[in-house]
Amino acid sequence: MVSLDRTADQLDPAFVPTHVAIIMDGNGRWAQQRGQPRLFGHRAGTENLREILRACVEFGIKILTIYAFSTENWGRPPEEVRGLLSILRNVIDRELEELNREGVQLRHIGDLSRIPDDLRQKVLSAIERTADNDRLIVNVAFNYGGRAEIVHAIQEIVRDGHSPEAITEELVSHYLYTSNLPDPDLIIRTSGELRVSNFLIWQSAYAEYYFPNVYWPDFNREELLKALFHFAERDRRYGKL
Ligand code: FPP
Repeated sequence: MVSLDRTADQLDPAFVPTHVAIIMDGNGRWAQQRGQPRLFGHRAGTENLREILRACVEFGIKILTIYAFSTENWGRPPEEVRGLLSILRNVIDRELEELNREGVQLRHIGDLSRIPDDLRQKVLSAIERTADNDRLIVNVAFNYGGRAEIVHAIQEIVRDGHSPEAITEELVSHYLYTSNLPDPDLIIRTSGELRVSNFLIWQSAYAEYYFPNVYWPDFNREELLKALFHFAERDRRYGKL
């Protein structure tokens, strides 16, 4: 059993996941509970990212992937889509300098071709600006879908003329957006929903899942610590005995 009163100094570094990925779910319900519009929840969800990034560094996590916008999210009302695009823009404008100072390396997975030109340029220049940082990799999934990623990889594999015999798991992994990152060890989905929702479906083959019963804006350092203690107790066998 994971007791609630354990502190960070009781974490065994050998059992801290290298790569944590998060489906930041429940912003809408969190806002609704407060009688506020959904975007209020997304903004609150952006605020607690700061605490989570700091906690990742403190706990020794090296890579954090966050699901900020899925390929399916285009189907939300235009106002919400506009709001999520503008959150991405504001986060880069307001936070880039500090993230860079703190040694965060920003990356992106997904398809940037569908987002406005100026925002795409902003994302690309933030990636370039932080490329040499190595304290924490923050990998933002924006306009990302796991199936779309696999389709894109197959298209590129065919375009590059690989023969059927040359197609291995390693080759496919190499063509994914995450090609130079290790697979996630731990995937967290907040809000109590027990679904994968097209997130890192290839890369999650051996990931541990954790589904805390809190909405994303309430997922804080303590909640992350709890997730890490749960992870440390999992017995990862990778299909072996
Ligand atoms: C899911 O909650 C959340 C999203 C679709 C957006 C997540 C985005 C952020 C937290 C903002 C951070 C963004 C960047 C670019 C750093 P939901 O809206 O599906 O909530 P619900 O299930 O309660 O309706």
